[in-house]
Amino acid sequence: MSISSFLTKKFLKPLFFPAHNRGAALPKKLIKLLKKPPGFWDLPELPEIGTPLSNRGLIAKSQREFSEKFMVKRCFFGVNGASGLIQSAVITMANPGESILMPRNVHISVIKICASQNITPIFFDLEFSSETGHYKPITKNWLKNVFNKINLNKKKVVGVILVSPTYHGYFQDIKPLIDLCHQKNLPVLVDEAHGCYFLFCENLDLPKSSLLSNADLVVHSLHKSLNGLTQTAVLWHKGDLVDEHNLIKSINLLQTTSPSSLLLSSCEESLKDWLNKKSLSRYQKRILEAKTIYKKLLQKKIPLIETQDPLKIILNTSKFGIDGFTADSFFYSNGLIAELPEIMTLTFCLGFANQKDFVNLFEKVWNKLLLNSKKSQNLKVLQSPFKLVQAPEIEIGIAWRSKTHSIPFSQSLSRISGDIICPYPPGTPLLVPGERIDKDRFNWIKNQSLYNKDLLNFNIRVL
Ligand SMILES: Cc1ncc(COP(=O)(O)O)c(C=O)c1O
Repeated sequence: MSISSFLTKKFLKPLFFPAHNRGAALPKKLIKLLKKPPGFWDLPELPEIGTPLSNRGLIAKSQREFSEKFMVKRCFFGVNGASGLIQSAVITMANPGESILMPRNVHISVIKICASQNITPIFFDLEFSSETGHYKPITKNWLKNVFNKINLNKKKVVGVILVSPTYHGYFQDIKPLIDLCHQKNLPVLVDEAHGCYFLFCENLDLPKSSLLSNADLVVHSLHKSLNGLTQTAVLWHKGDLVDEHNLIKSINLLQTTSPSSLLLSSCEESLKDWLNKKSLSRYQKRILEAKTIYKKLLQKKIPLIETQDPLKIILNTSKFGIDGFTADSFFYSNGLIAELPEIMTLTFCLGFANQKDFVNLFEKVWNKLLLNSKKSQNLKVLQSPFKLVQAPEIEIGIAWRSKTHSIPFSQSLSRISGDIICPYPPGTPLLVPGERIDKDRFNWIKNQSLYNKDLLNFNIRVL
């Protein structure tokens, strides 16, 4: 089967990203464009259009209007996902040899750019729930303790990255955290890949977007948390701690010289759609419906985990002795295609389209799974063995470039990793280049591999 024929495959319920639900929730103007003769709209950077970095043209005008609307300095559309814009933001904040403070649940794109630029990731650990296997959002006190553990000058710390909300939708007010970083004169990049729609829904008791909490740089994934096509993203720049010229230079460094006109139009239309009163009220209705879906499933005694993102339905399969990977295969074979299986949970993304028949269908498949699956008594997730603050033992850029060889993970105890071990999704690193595979980390990764096929009998490159 070719890729193109697979793309037309029907699923009973696509509950994954992109959040436009296979076109059902795309902005009307984009749908109109896509109905024009195929490929007609695929234009180069004609002067009338320009690029995200031009001063003139339709893209510049549109970005300017969004900047004014949200009272920020600059807004840049991106066509290489949140990943690409996060990477530009990282190299804007730090030069090779400098350090950035970041949580352990940071996205793999950050690690890759740190490795290629030799920017030291100084990781801080996070609170962890052994009931769900998920990291919890951090508090101001937690961050204060982290700061107390580091000599910022000695370690050349020049910025902080926060992930908010998390992949699953956990959130805590991050304004106090941003203020704390600003008191130390450190700029903050917030990876808000999963929280773009919060920006438009201040009335729905949803988390406040970090853009309204004075973050210096904020990156949104428009296909994950708005109704953009895959790869669309936006970066917002605020305040004076990040140099604008440096940011433009960094975006230019990583951006393709041929950004897709279709994707750029999708960036614009997805944001505009949420500023249009009529479509906004439709999306807000969807969000309220998602909250009702959650309540109805709970009433049916289906074990769900509550987060602050109503569009994520997180099944706590472990409550019934079933791991998330087994549940995922079962749901998949019954036409409900989930987004993220993990040891204790299975996460579904409702997206922005109508999910009319969701509750009954979900209940039916869940009950069928309960009848059909073997239950395990001792399903458990081990707390990750990280210190509160930890950096790779060997500089990440040096480890990344060193001569490495591939050995079975089972033989890698005490070696220095040359690899990023990062099962996707959710794409958060278990091990980065330059870190030592000590006993605790070794046992922990072995434990994860009991359930995750990516980690089963795998090879790792070591120095
Ligand atoms: C927290 C977080 N940040 C960034 C990204 C990257 O987003 P994109 O797929 O738009 O590049 C992801 C993707 O899973 C993510 O979960």
